[in-house]
Amino acid sequence: MADPAIYGTVITTEDSPSVSSFAFVIHSDTAGVKRGQFVSVKTTEGTAIATISNIFKTNKYFESAGSVREYSKTTEMYTAFPIKEWEYTVAETKLLGVYTKDGSLQRASFPPSPGIEVTEVDLQMLNRFLGLDQERGIDLGEIQQHDLRAKFNLTKMIQKHMAILAISGAGKSYATAVFMEELLLRDPKQGRIALFVVDNHGEYISFADDSDFKDKVKIINGEDVRISVRNTTEKVFASLLPEMSPVQVRELGKILHQLRNEKHSFEMKDVVDAIKISEDIKKVSKDALTGWLSELENMEIFSQDDYPGYENLLEQGKMIILNLRNVLDLKRKQLIVRQFSQKFFNLRREGKVPPYLEIIEEAHNFCPEGAKSSEALSRHIIELLAREGRKFYANLCLISQRPVQLSTTALSQCNTQIILRITNPYDLDHIKKSSEAISQSTLDIVNSLKVGEGLIIGEAVNYPVFVKIRKRKSKESHGTKLEDYAIIWDKKSNNLASGKEFL
Ligand SMILES: Nc1ncnc2c1ncn2[C@@H]1O[C@H](COP(=O)(O)OP(=O)(O)O)[C@@H](O)[C@H]1O
Ligand SMILES: [Mg+2]
Repeated sequence: MADPAIYGTVITTEDSPSVSSFAFVIHSDTAGVKRGQFVSVKTTEGTAIATISNIFKTNKYFESAGSVREYSKTTEMYTAFPIKEWEYTVAETKLLGVYTKDGSLQRASFPPSPGIEVTEVDLQMLNRFLGLDQERGIDLGEIQQHDLRAKFNLTKMIQKHMAILAISGAGKSYATAVFMEELLLRDPKQGRIALFVVDNHGEYISFADDSDFKDKVKIINGEDVRISVRNTTEKVFASLLPEMSPVQVRELGKILHQLRNEKHSFEMKDVVDAIKISEDIKKVSKDALTGWLSELENMEIFSQDDYPGYENLLEQGKMIILNLRNVLDLKRKQLIVRQFSQKFFNLRREGKVPPYLEIIEEAHNFCPEGAKSSEALSRHIIELLAREGRKFYANLCLISQRPVQLSTTALSQCNTQIILRITNPYDLDHIKKSSEAISQSTLDIVNSLKVGEGLIIGEAVNYPVFVKIRKRKSKESHGTKLEDYAIIWDKKSNNLASGKEFL
């Protein structure tokens, strides 16, 4: 291997070099030293790995306010003295650990010496340090500022659930599509899971048009989903009809129980009829219950049988997309998501479906923090999955642009987080609280990430790391791409016909 590039020399500052940090003067501003990059330095213990937390410039000519003011009265100083030559760039680092001579990783217990060279980090060492899996890992792109693939061990990544968080347009769905590609194209020998995607806007359905993926994808349109009345409990009806009194809930429960004993399958109309002829229910309650249930009947979601049948849907290496694009009512969406989540989890617990990952787009809509339970019909099951799913290899990936609105119970269980650009201070604070590993200087970078750049923290990596998400192999869904307003305007004014595609 070629000799590692030399970036600079360790200097003394008031409190460094120490066992936790050191600063170095950069030899050349063009050497490509950047914040967030990993560097290496030799110590008496072995080879230390550090990360650059800040970079600043200094110049002793400008240290004293008084003299700078005097000098600036005349421009001569700038020509008389070689001021530029006294400008230095200094990088501050955080020392992360030391590979000792026997190859083990330890906390530094002795600082590097002032005057020694700071070099680029050996890639194999960095790979080991971060805990990546170059052979079998999920390839999300590259580690920023290093020539190293960002390949994460699948088990570590999902076994304790994951979350993808960022503002709108930062690249969440794109990164998710890359992740899906990796899972779908994975060699069976490497171990595969089934995928279930709650696709709020139909962003992933284009997988079904792509020749490399279409055999591995099945789309279920939300508007076609039906829920069997027989298999729905009175509590579920009550959550859809919050006006129901506890007595009425019990009365409905009795009716459902009676119908289940009498009939193999029945519809909402049968429930309404049974209530009408019941001798135990008072007239007022009868009127109220039959009225409400008829409203539910009009939703056209409750039916004699379930659609789809759930038993054979999930398959290893394949993806079920629940396309909710044409379902407009949020409660209806939640009801459908609850149905799927509940069914799959039950089947998984019975060992009837393979281990799976449930990916939920716009998760704050399905598992909101603080909302009344009648406005959050799918929250209970998602929180249950978050708490207990991993014992059964039923894993979650929550995607959201509003982490503060996402159930803390669920989010706190997502131990791998992919964080793309986030600007809202409340959201940043929320994330900081949910992860000990993340420092303020790291968060500062999150604020200024570009599209497709992200921070990965938690179980999947030993240390938070910035990643540039790779290009997709599959094609993007038409119409999900947000065009620049200027471009839309241009297209519209120049050519009205092509403007149509944005309407
Ligand atoms: N890693 C990436 N490489 C290239 N383009 C990207 C990348 N990530 C996002 N984009 C582009 O940015 C746009 C917005 O990304 P998207 O994933 O839809 O954002 P979000 O889901 O966070 O709102 C996409 O249309 C896509 O073309
Ligand atoms: Mg999106």
